[in-house]
Amino acid sequence: MREIPSGLIERARQRPFLKPFARQAVGAPPIWLMRQAGRYLPEYREVRAKAGSFLDLCYNPELASEVTIQPIRRFGFDAAILFSDILVVPHALGQTVTFAEGEGPRLDPIRSAMDLARLNELQVGRKFELVFETVRRTRAALPAETALIGFCGAPWTVATYMVGGRGSVDQAEARLMAYQEPEIFSQLIDIISTASVTYLDGQVAAGADAIQIFDSWAGSLPDDEFDRWVVAPTRRIVRELKQRYPALPIIGFPRAAGDKIAHYVRETGVDGVSCDTTFSIRGMAELSSAENVVVQGNLDPLLLVTGGAALEKRVEEILTAVSGRPFIFNLGHGIVPQTPPENVAKLVQLVRRG
Ligand code: CP3
Repeated sequence: MREIPSGLIERARQRPFLKPFARQAVGAPPIWLMRQAGRYLPEYREVRAKAGSFLDLCYNPELASEVTIQPIRRFGFDAAILFSDILVVPHALGQTVTFAEGEGPRLDPIRSAMDLARLNELQVGRKFELVFETVRRTRAALPAETALIGFCGAPWTVATYMVGGRGSVDQAEARLMAYQEPEIFSQLIDIISTASVTYLDGQVAAGADAIQIFDSWAGSLPDDEFDRWVVAPTRRIVRELKQRYPALPIIGFPRAAGDKIAHYVRETGVDGVSCDTTFSIRGMAELSSAENVVVQGNLDPLLLVTGGAALEKRVEEILTAVSGRPFIFNLGHGIVPQTPPENVAKLVQLVRRG
């Protein structure tokens, strides 16, 4: 049984996004979208152009706060998500991280105990301070009814970039290191987990109402490895945050975890789970009942590019499937840059009308 902390019941009265977590009735489900701040918005591209590099934008509290709020101004979502990136954690640990235009992230890969020893946990706090300042500014500027979501990458997903040095289709370098050098890989996961707790703790102290843990590559591991590298570190992060903030809602996003998702929910202790595009809508409803968990999802981001009747039909199907459950409307993965902003406005209208 899940108990609803009294602090959450109070806060949910003010912020509709929190109502599903407090099991309070909603008219329409709350809605926000992964990557709701980003290149599909002309106002984002304008700020991005004057910020310098992508990481410069992440560490600029004034500009990062501005782009966090842009989609709220335009669409009136129920939640804003802090503008930052999951790779701020390795960067704060001292790893070289760059974002080449149009190519995605590049990191100096960690391949040995010596590379690992170069990471510096002591400097983490100072770099994170700029992100916490963004949270404070954003909270102060948001409407009272808009929730603010903080986030981090899950240790496994962050490790895939730290070891691989870039995004990949199969995360082979990290999976190999986990098999061949489990001691070193385990130390890396612990370092990321500790830094992530510091990162999230600071975001909540600065005003974040809820947290999402992005595990974009959770789907690449067999079940025993999934338990060790996805479930165990996520459970640790959830436990340590709940000790400090018992009323904090935590959402996990184990993308492409498939039939391991119920196990993930049960073992990590997350309050909500974000379901990816390939997860069935019937499965979402069943998961919510079986695990008494808030489900979030799972519109295909490409339907938001398509728009029109196909978008309307699928939104209706999702809303019908999860009707009466604690549910938050979202995509199954992030908005893509070619999304027409009009389709996003249309989506918000469709969800709120139902
Ligand atoms: O609006 C939001 O959702 C909040 C901000 C946010 C960003 N990245 C901004 C961003 C969040 C929550 C993330 C999470 C993130 N970052 C994930 C997990 C979610 C997922 O998409 O699977 C991952 C794997 C990353 C790492 C990352 N950051 C990659 C692979 C890339 C390059 C791909 C791309 O879209 O360019 C980024 C860059 C990035 N992070 C951008 C934004 C808006 C685009 C960079 C730009 O504006 O130049």
